[in-house]
Amino acid sequence: MNAAKKIALLYGARPNYMKVFPLWREMKAPGSVLRPLLIHTGQHYDASMSDVFFRNLAMDPPDHALGVGAGSHAAQTGRIMQALEPVLGRERPAALVVVGDVNSTMAGALVAVKMGIPVAHVEAGLRSGDRAMPEEINRVVTDAVADCLLASCRDAVDNLRREGIPEERIHFVGNVMMDSLEAALPRLPESKIVETLGLAPRAYVLVTLHRPSNVDDPGPLRAILGALEALSADRPVVFPVHPRTRKVMESNGVAPARAGFRCLDPLGYLDFLRLETEAGLVVTDSGGIQEETSYLGIPCLTLRENTERPVTITAGTNRLVPPRGGRLLEEARRALAQPPGPRPRIEGWDGRAASRIIPVLQGLVTA
Ligand code: UD1
Ligand code: UDP
Repeated sequence: MNAAKKIALLYGARPNYMKVFPLWREMKAPGSVLRPLLIHTGQHYDASMSDVFFRNLAMDPPDHALGVGAGSHAAQTGRIMQALEPVLGRERPAALVVVGDVNSTMAGALVAVKMGIPVAHVEAGLRSGDRAMPEEINRVVTDAVADCLLASCRDAVDNLRREGIPEERIHFVGNVMMDSLEAALPRLPESKIVETLGLAPRAYVLVTLHRPSNVDDPGPLRAILGALEALSADRPVVFPVHPRTRKVMESNGVAPARAGFRCLDPLGYLDFLRLETEAGLVVTDSGGIQEETSYLGIPCLTLRENTERPVTITAGTNRLVPPRGGRLLEEARRALAQPPGPRPRIEGWDGRAASRIIPVLQGLVTA
């Protein structure tokens, strides 16, 4: 019998954990012909942005921790590339899997492709069409060089075809984030966060914000938080604050003071999902949270002009609210007044995407 092939799984930012975990779990299963090698870039490094997730997901610690930390786009991307190259050189995995659209994703793809190591991209083909988003550049570059493009929804497949990507590189596999979500749902009773915060199910609003266009300048951030603070007069608003956002709030003295507006540290996955599943409304600019709320059937307002995840609007529960339009308070009140619709069904979002990815990876490394 042939030895199992070594597949490097690269991750580094918070949303990467939920995309790597289902693949790691499949590869660790008895009889797997693929063997995972976990490489953490260190793009996110606070315990609340990193360690908590491998504990919550009961994942092995990384085989290699590159420890690159924060920096400008060029500095961070360059440091990841420099640190990853010798690791891949020593380990010579049969393939490298990159996930999502963060700097670690693009950096990893560029390093491996130039070393002749096949690259698979999980969540390929998403496009916002907005080149001012750093993630859009990461998506376009990663998909241009990756050998195997694993799409989470049909519109992503269409985007790749439109860009002229050869059909044999494109695979519709569904959404691995929903695999992690399904794995976590039975464990949510372990979290007591709803009780600890004294919240009643469906009677509060959960907020996350970290897009540079919303949080890097204090002006737009103040306007968004002002609307949410006004909303907190009606019902509690819970806001686990991303470190990027926290920095801007602290250095500009932005500190919502109303008692109903609760600013928290970033939460672990189980705590966050417990709050998400029981929220009356979610307000966010996160990519993953648009998807999770759609899957769960929780009403979601996304504070962005566009989304690379249109299926969350056409088939899901998501609505875009332009962050600078001054409409957030009114839209939130309207959403809270409506009864939530039925839980949507989106093709390939079924908790089994990783089991469809494994045979594609096997094909990639035996081709
Ligand atoms: C990154 C991704 C974004 C993703 C988000 C998920 C890129 C270009 N951006 O954005 O696509 O949606 O992660 O959360 O890859 N910081 C800490 N502690 C940490 C991590 C970050 O304090 O553990 C602070 C640092 O000051 C850092 C800033 O947050 O400079 C931004 O971190 P960075 O990883 O560059 O980008 P994110 O905004 O987190
Ligand atoms: N999440 C979490 N704790 C938080 C905020 C988010 O566990 O305090 C989870 C959330 O459930 C989702 C993922 O982190 O699985 C989304 O990550 P993020 O919003 O940072 O990144 P994006 O998806 O926008 O790239």
